[in-house]
Amino acid sequence: MDTYEMIINGKNVGNNLEKIHVTNPANNEPIAEVPYGGKNEAVSAADAAYQSWTDWSERSAYERSELIRKWYELINENKEDIALSMTLEQGKPLKEARGEIDYANGFISWYAEEAKRVYGEIIPASTTSKRIFVQKQAVGVVAVITPWNFPAAMITRKVAPALAAGCTVVIKPAEQTPITAIKLVKLAKEAGIPDGVINVIVGDAKEIGETWNADTRIRKLTFTGSTPVGKLLMKGAANNVKRVSLELGGHAPVIILGDCDIDKAVNGVIQAKFRNAGQTCVCANRIYVDETIQEEFTAKLIEKVRELKVDQGVNESTDIGPLIDRVAIDKVDSHVKDAVEKGATIEVGGNRIEGLFYEPTILSNVSDDMICMKEETFGPILPISPFKDVDEAITRANDSDFGLASYVFTENITKGIKIIDKLEYGIVGLNDGLPSTPQAPFGGYKQSGLGREGGHHGMDEYLEVKYISLGL
Ligand code: SIN
Repeated sequence: MDTYEMIINGKNVGNNLEKIHVTNPANNEPIAEVPYGGKNEAVSAADAAYQSWTDWSERSAYERSELIRKWYELINENKEDIALSMTLEQGKPLKEARGEIDYANGFISWYAEEAKRVYGEIIPASTTSKRIFVQKQAVGVVAVITPWNFPAAMITRKVAPALAAGCTVVIKPAEQTPITAIKLVKLAKEAGIPDGVINVIVGDAKEIGETWNADTRIRKLTFTGSTPVGKLLMKGAANNVKRVSLELGGHAPVIILGDCDIDKAVNGVIQAKFRNAGQTCVCANRIYVDETIQEEFTAKLIEKVRELKVDQGVNESTDIGPLIDRVAIDKVDSHVKDAVEKGATIEVGGNRIEGLFYEPTILSNVSDDMICMKEETFGPILPISPFKDVDEAITRANDSDFGLASYVFTENITKGIKIIDKLEYGIVGLNDGLPSTPQAPFGGYKQSGLGREGGHHGMDEYLEVKYISLGL
């Protein structure tokens, strides 16, 4: 079995620590072991990132850009190897793992360019004896805490803009998926990114989060994960008024109008629901379909769902891999059982498959009191509910504490835009089931988070604004 170590200040560390197994969710077999750290490693990583910050932030943007670009090239060269590790530790199909490496690396390539575009401003003063300048500077050391569902992209979406801005980072990936993270950080070192600029540790999430929150040298915390954990981290960050970016849970509604292109809507829903076996924050969680096309839409969707192949991710033909663990599969099953008890009909699927697999499932006759209509299922189940009047659909779509992604399908763009204006969501896919992309701002309204990742909006999260008043 392979052993991986943490990387602090460019050195492999943790050999002397207790080890945990990384397990393949497709067959429950251990594939590697990693050291399991806590407070000591969190402090050492913060020391390294703090010590390297001045040098890194004082390099020219062009130099940082070139090093980040080199990192991108090395990830490309090692794409197959990282994708396979990702499939083995996370479960997603290999074709999706390759897609995630491209997506993750898209952030690196985009921010390598953006490093050169951190522009300041000159603002007209109110007297001729003054000048007003605005300049942007790196926030400082950033703590990056990431989930298991996108083991590469959730890291690069944070680390690439942080590095481009001149920040240094300490990363704690999810303990289920540390291998992808460690491989990415090794390649950063190979690319010539100086020791200490990127550090990665594995260990006790609570202890590490609390240690980093208490450390005033860490100026910002960025987290992707559940809303309850995000709230705890935000509370901890408040003690030192640490800046936070949070990308939290979602419960995406899909509104399908009677005038949509039904095939386009079906394909969009398949993408929005079944990517990563439904384990994404932007997953379609509930469909509201115009009652005039409900029958045709549902029939076509069922046909497509029946074609999805559930199997181990390493098989090239797999569409849906295993869920991450027993807790995840129990949750999915309990949502289906709750819906059925309250009157839902299973149109297709509805069963566990041996191991951590679950059949892709469509539910009809659903009502808003069912758990799956309110809570994030994080699995391959999709409830469908008809509507008569689009305003009713919008009201139901907005009736959620979450506000991350939403989707609308219509061939009438004017209608679509009017609906979008009313949706309380940070992301809307209009005739698009896969809106995530490196150059666009990703993030949510309400309890889905704070801040944006991706694009120039994502860069601002790692920059302080300094105003200089010059008396002449
Ligand atoms: C997430 O599930 O948190 C991220 C999904 C994406 O980037 O598309």
